[in-house]
Parts: sequence; structure tokens; C-alpha cells
Amino acid sequence: MKTQISSRPLAGIESPLVAIIVAQGAPAPLKDPGLERAIASGDYQGKKDEALLVYGAGKTERVLLVGIGKTSEITRGAVRRAAAIAAKRARSLGTKTFALTVAKEARGGLGAAELAQVLIEGAAQGSWQFTELKKQPEDPKPELESVELLFDGGDKKVAETGRRIGDAIAAGYLYTRNLQMQPGNVCTPSYLAEQARTLAATHGFGVTILDKAQIKKEGMGALLAVAQGSAEEPRFIVLEYQGSDGGGAPVALIGKGVTFDSGGISIKPAANMEDMKFDKSGATAVLGVFEVLGRLKPKINVVGLIPATENLPSGTAVKPGDVIRSHLGKTIEIINTDAEGRLILCDALSYARRFKPVAAIDAATLTGAVVIALGHHAIGMLGNDEALLAEVRDAGERAGERCWPLPLWDEYRELLKSDVADVKNSGGRAAGTIAGAWFLREFVDGFPWVHLDIAGTAYLEGEGASHAKGPTAIGVRLFTEFLLKRAGA
Ligand code: BES
Ligand code: MN
Ligand code: ZN
Repeated sequence: MKTQISSRPLAGIESPLVAIIVAQGAPAPLKDPGLERAIASGDYQGKKDEALLVYGAGKTERVLLVGIGKTSEITRGAVRRAAAIAAKRARSLGTKTFALTVAKEARGGLGAAELAQVLIEGAAQGSWQFTELKKQPEDPKPELESVELLFDGGDKKVAETGRRIGDAIAAGYLYTRNLQMQPGNVCTPSYLAEQARTLAATHGFGVTILDKAQIKKEGMGALLAVAQGSAEEPRFIVLEYQGSDGGGAPVALIGKGVTFDSGGISIKPAANMEDMKFDKSGATAVLGVFEVLGRLKPKINVVGLIPATENLPSGTAVKPGDVIRSHLGKTIEIINTDAEGRLILCDALSYARRFKPVAAIDAATLTGAVVIALGHHAIGMLGNDEALLAEVRDAGERAGERCWPLPLWDEYRELLKSDVADVKNSGGRAAGTIAGAWFLREFVDGFPWVHLDIAGTAYLEGEGASHAKGPTAIGVRLFTEFLLKRAGA
């Protein structure tokens, strides 16, 4: 998706579609009898998500108004959402290009750079579709090739700085969403590793891939335990981006890379099990962020760590009751083989020590319990450092990937006490998301850390006004906002 900032006047634009984001109760943004009547009659009010398509206004073929709601409620998220609705409509109309602008009443307090960035993010979100694996897509529509963002001449230069960021985020976001969508028979642990290698070759990152023998040698007994039931070999992926001149300790981003989670011997019910191809969503978010880093080159150092494996039942699979030794040295009693995410992440957190990270953030589709607690609108956030928690939460607000804290009090640690080992991998049904985070915390040694449980936000089961069904690339925008702020950009 190409983008361009232009200052052509609205009325003179020749385009298959001009989309204008308007505020509730605002006057017609364009002199046109049809538009003016729709608004004057009260038929069209510009309420949130309310859209109106008009033919024959100005020189353009079609004008689309997208309501953003009341002027007092305009946020980055509202603009992003309206842009997504516009792009989704452009997509369904089959226009390969469209022009997009925000009427002055609908800009809220947002500056031109922010506006350009979130408009592009929204356009990427709304235009996404996945037809790669269909020989004959029903009702095929062309890819959205380009979006022209209209700004006043005076805002053009500032808008360009936002466009650069928006373009990079959009690329990472689309990359992640496509990768999430790949089925488990395509996207295996070694496939994820190849993706990392390609990213490294394209952008000049450092890359280290541990195969099964090297994982064994490294002593990652928890990752190996999950992988031992599968014919596909595990991989441990390390990506290193050096953007800060003075060297310095990196931020570590860790992503759960279970390319398919059947539950293992503690097998899951059949219903919706196909969705467990999305259990690699933490990993794909980390890879997507590296795509963004490669394009933006911010002044910061980042290391990405991805433990990748399948979780399958077989005659060689790990069993409930088994006791294994983790990379850190703590022993783990396996209570439930479906609590596999924490097992592979605990070895990654332990491995992270060698980088002496200034901060570590993991993203993982870790627990069904987070869906019960927060539904599909918030990431469950837990950690060991209040300042880092606040920083991540702020990044999530800017990104429109909102996080909500759950407590990691000492009392909850009881849930994971084992009779035979240092810790057990499941505490039962109570406080499932907190128990998962507490397990991880047992393996965090010496750095500030935040855990993001993205099980409720990594993919959506139905279509929304601004969103297609399926993967959301959650984490790409949040991680990017976090890193850019840290880099002082
Ligand atoms: N990958 C699942 C969590 C999940 C559930 C992701 C629903 C997306 C949607 C995870 O590996 C899992 O199975 N967790 C168990 C943990 C339990 C056995 C302690 C769960 O949540 O039931
Ligand atoms: Mn599981
Ligand atoms: Zn899982």
C-alpha cells in the first residue's frame, strides 16, 4: 500500500473515491447539493461509524463520509477507526486507490503528523484481506494499491514525518497479519526461523537460530519438553537490531511461537481448535516489529527472542506428572500439557539474561482466562516493575492496543506450589491469567519485565465495522510506540 500526502483542493480531485472523516453535526465538507441535503435534513449526522456514500459530488466519482462522532470524543483511536472503515469500503467497492482526509471539525487536538500516522494505520487495518490460499476467491477484489492523504499546504511537511512512521507500521502490521494467517502446516517453527533470516538479510539485523540439537545443548529443557511430541523440530530464534551508536543494553521483546497448539496429551476439545494456529501471534508480532525497525531505524537497541514449537500429542509427548528441568535450572512439574506457552517462554526469559536487557516485554496468547476477564478489547498486563507497566500501558493507549493491569501479588504464588518440583505449570482454573504470569515471573531474573496476555486480542472471531475477521497483528503498534518513545523519536 503506497501512500502520498497531497494538498490538492477537495473539490477539484479526480479519484474513484474521496473519503472524508466528519464530526457529528458538522456542516457538509464539500459544496454539493446531495451532500448538503443529506446533512441539512438530519438524515446523515456523522455519528460514530455512520457512513454515507454519494455519487456525483465535485469532480470525484464517489464521496464517502465517515462519521467520527462528537468533537469532544475525537482521539487517535477514533481517527484510526474511521480511516479503517473508509479503507474497508474502498476495498469492497474495488477501487485500487482512494483519497482520504479529515474535515477540520474532526481533527480534535491532533497534529498533522499524528493524523497522517493514524490514518495510514487505519487504512492498513481496513484494507487487509487474505486470499493467498484460494485458487478462486469468490467476489475477488483488487488489492488497495495507494492512498492519497489530503492536507492543507501548510501542514504538508509535518504530515510527511507522520507518514514515514505510519508507512513503516503499516508494513509491519500487514506482514504480521499475513504471517498469523498462515496455517500450521505452512508456518512451522522452521518457517518462522526462515522469516527471521529473511528479515535479517533484508534489514541487516543479527540473527541466531538454534536448532533442536543446539536447544538441547543450551539446556532449554522446558522448550524441548513441549517440542518432544512433535515430528516438526523446534527452533529458538534471536534477532538483534543495533540502532543506538553508543551500544548499550537492549530492550528484549519475547514472543510465544507455538505454531499449533492442540493441547498435547491434555488435548483440547475439537471445537474451534483450528484457531490454535494463532498461538504464534506473540512471535509474529515480534517479527513484525523488526520489519518496522528495519524501515525506521530508530536510535535504540532491540533483541527479539522467539521460542518456536508445535504442541502435539504422541507416544513421545510430555505427560502430566512428568518433571522437567528448565534453562534457569528450576524443575517444573507438568500438570497440564496445554499450559505449554509458559514453558517455552520461561526458557526464553532465562536466555534473555545474557543481554542484560533494560526492559523485557513478552507477548503471548497464554490463557483462555484472559478472555473471561477482559474479553476482546484489552490485553492483560502484568509485571514486576510499576514504571515499566505504566510505560507499556501508555504505549498501548497511543497504539490503540489497550492494556489493563491484573495483580501479581505474592498470595497468588501459592497456586503454583508443587509437591515434587520447584514449581508446577498449572494452578487450575482460579486466576488463570495471574497464575500464568506468576509462572513466568519465577524465571525473570534481574530485569524489569512486563507480560502481555494477548489471547483475547490476537484474533477476532467475527467481522467488525473497522476490522475483518481473523488476525489483528496485536502488539506491532504497541511495541513500536514503546520503542519510538524510548528512542526519543
Ligand atoms: N494457547 C492457549 C491459550 C488460548 C486460549 C489462546 C484461547 C487463545 C484462545 C494456551 O496454551 C492454553 O491452552 N492455556 C490453558 C492454560 C491452562 C491449561 C492452565 C488455558 O487457558 O486453558
Ligand atoms: Mn495450550
Ligand atoms: Zn498455547
